Amino acid sequence: MRKDTKKIVAYALSLGLSTSVVAVPSSAHAADTKLSTALSNKGSFRLPAQQGITGTHNVSFDHYSLMIDGKRTFLYSGEFDYWRLPSQSGWMDVLQKMKAAGFNAVTIYFNWDFHSPAKGKYDFTGIRDVDKLLTMAQKVGLYVVARPGPYINAETDGGGYPGWLTTEAGRARTAAPDYTEAYREWMSNIDPIIAKHQITKGGNVILYQVENEYSAKDAVYMQQIQDKAHADGINVPTFHNDKSGPKGNWASGAGAPDMYAFDSYPGLAGLPSYYGNPRQFAPKSPVFLAELGGGWFDPWGGKSYSTLSNTYNASYENVLYNHVVSEGATMMSIYMTYGGTNWGYLPFPGVYSSYDYTSAISESRQLGEKYNEEKLLATMYRTLSPLTKTETLAPAAAPSNQNLLLNAMQNPDTGTQFYVLRHSKGNSSEDDTTTMKIQSADGTYTLPQEPGTSIDINGQESKFMVANYQFGSQHLVYSTSNLYTHLTQGNRDTAVFYGGAGTDGETTLRYKTEPKVTVLSGDVKSKYDPATGDLRLNYKHDENISRVLIKDGNKELMLILTSNKTAETFWLQDTKEGKVLVKGPYLLRSASVRNKSLLELQGDVDKETTVEVLSPVNRISWNGEEVKAEKTPYGTYTFSLGSPQEVTVPQLTNWKYSDENEETQQNFDDSFFVNADKTTTNNPTKPLTKTVLYEDDYGFHHGMVWMRGHFKASGKETGITLDGEGGANGAYGVWLNGSYLGSSLSGTKTFNFPEGSLKKDEDNVVAVLVQNMGHDEDGGCKDSQKNPRGLVNAALVGDSTELTWKMQGNKGGENLIDPVRGVMNAGGLYGENNGFALPNYPDNAWKTVSALGNKDTHEAGVYWYRTSFKLNFPKMSDVPMGLSVNDDKTKNYRAYIYINGWLVGQYINNLGPQTVFSLPSGVLDPDGKNTVAIAVWSLDGSSIDTSKITLQKLGNYAGGVPVKMNKSPNYHDIFNK
Ligand code: GAL
Repeated sequence: MRKDTKKIVAYALSLGLSTSVVAVPSSAHAADTKLSTALSNKGSFRLPAQQGITGTHNVSFDHYSLMIDGKRTFLYSGEFDYWRLPSQSGWMDVLQKMKAAGFNAVTIYFNWDFHSPAKGKYDFTGIRDVDKLLTMAQKVGLYVVARPGPYINAETDGGGYPGWLTTEAGRARTAAPDYTEAYREWMSNIDPIIAKHQITKGGNVILYQVENEYSAKDAVYMQQIQDKAHADGINVPTFHNDKSGPKGNWASGAGAPDMYAFDSYPGLAGLPSYYGNPRQFAPKSPVFLAELGGGWFDPWGGKSYSTLSNTYNASYENVLYNHVVSEGATMMSIYMTYGGTNWGYLPFPGVYSSYDYTSAISESRQLGEKYNEEKLLATMYRTLSPLTKTETLAPAAAPSNQNLLLNAMQNPDTGTQFYVLRHSKGNSSEDDTTTMKIQSADGTYTLPQEPGTSIDINGQESKFMVANYQFGSQHLVYSTSNLYTHLTQGNRDTAVFYGGAGTDGETTLRYKTEPKVTVLSGDVKSKYDPATGDLRLNYKHDENISRVLIKDGNKELMLILTSNKTAETFWLQDTKEGKVLVKGPYLLRSASVRNKSLLELQGDVDKETTVEVLSPVNRISWNGEEVKAEKTPYGTYTFSLGSPQEVTVPQLTNWKYSDENEETQQNFDDSFFVNADKTTTNNPTKPLTKTVLYEDDYGFHHGMVWMRGHFKASGKETGITLDGEGGANGAYGVWLNGSYLGSSLSGTKTFNFPEGSLKKDEDNVVAVLVQNMGHDEDGGCKDSQKNPRGLVNAALVGDSTELTWKMQGNKGGENLIDPVRGVMNAGGLYGENNGFALPNYPDNAWKTVSALGNKDTHEAGVYWYRTSFKLNFPKMSDVPMGLSVNDDKTKNYRAYIYINGWLVGQYINNLGPQTVFSLPSGVLDPDGKNTVAIAVWSLDGSSIDTSKITLQKLGNYAGGVPVKMNKSPNYHDIFNK
């Protein structure tokens, strides 16, 4: 086996990916099939055992917190919805990144729509393999908060209701019999998978959500969902998420689940006080925020995620999350922590393809300021175990500066106190300075004690301070710095405190006798008071680290004092030999100790990096290779890692194109179209046409649909009035006998027949291309997912001649021709139905786009473009890629962008704002040939300028999770069997 292959295989196994699916160089494959098969047969997951969740446990709660086997647990969870990341290796990457930041749980919406193309049909394979997803989360060491709906909202098509459900008569989100039968079918499929993974059965699922922000009052329905879940084997606590803050819905009484929870997306200006409310509604539940804003979604025509991220930034998280904790919350889930991509036809009409959400982990799985902030907070919350049981504490006095607000809590058992200080106006960006008074079992203090120093809240930030706290063999009287974490190795405790660069910090510890204090680096003053035993340290938070060694008999404390920015470069990981603290790398995925002698670290770097490790052993490896680690005077080890290898990104050239507008022609043979001849529909919106022209009623649930209305002209017809419905931002285009009549956004419009276009006494054809932007959500419990898609009205003007309609959506309708890419990848353009987007489609007969790009004007209609490119990114690297379209915004065209047959982006040139489309690895081959196909629907005769389409490297990291390519069919697999 070649050396690099060996490394990749070992690395892949350690990440829990079976090597049979890992992209390794083909030459290596050939030589080593035997070995890699043997390795892959060992099972697909081999993460360090101490990271994973093992054994069976029970879950309970009281009004303070959740408990696992009776042990209080602070739930710091984040929402990650697998269906917005079509890549199993991507799942692993995101889960590891969450765990590395200190999350102890992942919250998952299971999307019925995504798994069910037709009534009675469910798919849980490949990118839908949720059994595997749950196993991955367990191996990574994350609990799971399961949210299977049946309704989920989530800015997705129909709020998670499958297309076929929109044709049923009963009202959704009620106890209507056909709806009940339908959702029970979903639950019968999803529940057994979730049930098997419950922590009570040796898995990691700890909670189960019933419905989603259910604002109607049907308690029978709510109870029936729970009864069904229980019948399916769910035995972990159930909960429901009350909409927009604690209102008491489903907190108690008929239909109420086990626990009460609520959602909250507050702005910082008026931070709500939650504490009283949830306790008042549900005295037995902890304060549980099932969704806490991690950002927000951007709509079509919106401001863009980069603009939104100015508001939903790291300091927003800092102020909001500390506030929520100061209000007593011990359970929270950040929506979204990884937003991902609305690839395919996943979005509801309000949102575009990127669902980045300004999340901590960006759409392209990259880490930035928000991730770092969450890491600081999550690590602190999980370090401070007394935080799981607190009561509000009236601070001894208000802070001296009245612009500031101080919330306090105390653990009734340990007396540990927590103080959260912020601007009373949460979004204030002023700089303020204060002193404050605390009173604990250790005494009464005005902080800071050191004359001439202060506690500063600079700009939008909060401070989380701890007092009367025992850790390791130390007693912390208080600190005006934030705590990152503390750990114990041998007889030495280490604690990391931080604050804004240049601000004062004061930390006081207590010792019976005066300890020996040695300042190893930085400028730190210390003062011991024999009367109280207080050892007070004063310092400024600095980008450089100050280190102080405090020796008390044979016990030692190493204090690490630094700035916010520097603290962000730390990572805390658990190993069998205890906690490990690492400073420096872009990401530390995991750490484990082998044979009590080798610390194995796995992670990613984005540049040349010096890594410093507080390690329990003296040998260290990084991504499978032992490094030369040098011991520092501080008892840590350092080593350096090189920068990622440069990569080149090819240009997109050699475009070919073809049109597909035959459907508009009078003599087009539409015999293979479906007869749109139904005369009844269950849809609450009744059609104005003689036959039903709703796409869903004919099994076409997504994307574009061609409709052809035939009529024998009397000669008096002068035009046609249409009501084309594709949802918000949807559009439709209209032709008579091949002549373009124009287009409209969803709604009613009359189109005049141009002179000479009508053929008297002949079969005339009105062709309509309707763009379905997805089904509406049903947040208001009004069956809005049934709002029709297709034509609600089609009436000729000038004569009452009736039309006879045929329509064609995705080939096969609910019987998918490509079940791998699945229901969300199936639209009804001719090219979609004939493999234009697929790898190996024979496009040799297509025309060549000139090297200068396609500047030709066309007629309105659909045009397909194809090209391909090769990537050969280094093994063990992660190079997130995007495809950018930077065209003249006045052109009125829309486009569907495909990579290797996967629809990765819906584009509206004159609406935006999205211009860069994330290309998930697994769909994109980082080490092979990739096919790009773009279907352009021109509404005005303009088309895409292919010279304005470029590939973009969004980052470059050495490390990563080996990419498992989705095994998806090419053209010949589907069309040339
Ligand atoms: C919540 C809802 C989520 C999502 C979110 C906004 O109210 O439960 O599904 O829609 O709003 O992103």
